[in-house]
Amino acid sequence: MSRNFILKGNIVHTPESNCLVVRENAHVVCEDGVCRGVFDKIPECYGALPVVDCGDKMILPGMVDLHIHAAQYAYRGTGMDYELMDWLENIAFPEEMRYADAAYALKAYTQFAERLKASATTRAVIFGTVHADATLTLMNCMEKSGLVSYVGKVNMDRYAPPGLTEDHADGVGADTRRFIEKCLGRGYRRTKPIITPRFVPCCTDALMAALGDIRREYGLPVQSHLSENPDEVQAVARLAPQAEFYGDAYDRFGLFGRESNTVMAHCVYSTPSEIKRIKRNGVWVAHCPSSNMNIASGIAPVRRYMDEGLRIGLGSDVAGGTVESVFRAVTDAIQVSKLYWRYIDSGAKPLTFPEALYLATKGGGSFFGRVGSFEEGYAFDALVLDDSAEPTPRPLPVRSRLERAFYLGLDRGGIEMKYVDGERLF
Ligand code: GUN
Ligand code: FE
Repeated sequence: MSRNFILKGNIVHTPESNCLVVRENAHVVCEDGVCRGVFDKIPECYGALPVVDCGDKMILPGMVDLHIHAAQYAYRGTGMDYELMDWLENIAFPEEMRYADAAYALKAYTQFAERLKASATTRAVIFGTVHADATLTLMNCMEKSGLVSYVGKVNMDRYAPPGLTEDHADGVGADTRRFIEKCLGRGYRRTKPIITPRFVPCCTDALMAALGDIRREYGLPVQSHLSENPDEVQAVARLAPQAEFYGDAYDRFGLFGRESNTVMAHCVYSTPSEIKRIKRNGVWVAHCPSSNMNIASGIAPVRRYMDEGLRIGLGSDVAGGTVESVFRAVTDAIQVSKLYWRYIDSGAKPLTFPEALYLATKGGGSFFGRVGSFEEGYAFDALVLDDSAEPTPRPLPVRSRLERAFYLGLDRGGIEMKYVDGERLF
């Protein structure tokens, strides 16, 4: 399939935070899977490319989900009457135990990958479970979906039920090493492994040290959780007394940015020293507002992080978060920022729609490289959005149509075409 073409329609993107660019009836050029820019008139040098006329529909960059748990997708929208630590013990861990069963894993991960493919998400950073075989199954499903993803075999060796606790019988980290060798050997195009210590309470120093070594050896990125919930933060202070702050417990083992891309979910309770280290090490923050509401974690001070110049994207964090929709994460992020401003910090202005859209595209997209914008040289990840099923008694400007599509959840059913690296997925 040729990855050289032009899409014509109402093109929207956020090359800068808080700057929504709307180009009506314009053309976005894709050459070898790479965006060549947005033009009112097709430049002569692209005159021979086929034009896909999307009429009055909107064309926007694909959404990036910086944090989602594939193995929790099965119970999304249930089990919400707990806080984090009890929720893990009573809901998350019992479900994750099921992934020792290959047939269950295949069924559940097939459903997950199909739904993610149909969603607005074009790239995702994903947690599996501790099970290497099941996580390889997840990677097969993701590769088949055509989305670009990092997928992690979860590591934990304490504070989890026996079925989920690594025993290190053949050496600490040996299972993760095997997992990485296997997935690198499969020659996936769009699916890559990522080092995944679940979070500090579930990982001994020995395990963290082994993961730090593996990360260095293979040059892999890292994902984990950070400063999500008060009880969790207290547990970390108890379990890692030598760490200066929560994030330092990762940094001591080379698992906190600096040498490789690292994304930490939540950062609701990060202290000034932790924020400083996040910035210095170039760690990405995955802001997960739905999860932070559902399991009563709190509200991350995203405006403060943006003012500090941190790297930030959005995460659905299913199944702490309810749905895989990054459209929903955009509106949730705006809404919680309003509560934060109203109740907690009148100096932290609420996020605007363009700012939240930026986080969902170019903000999180930077974890993958030049992703999340229609600027020249960016990966051609695009959605064609049809909002015509939603009635309006008068024509709306494109800006309003786009905002409305996010608030009304028109990603469910409204995504008519989806491209990743210039390849059409549907
Ligand atoms: N912290 C450790 N594990 C998890 C998880 O599965 N979900 C969330 N939201 N936080 C975690
Ligand atoms: Fe999570």
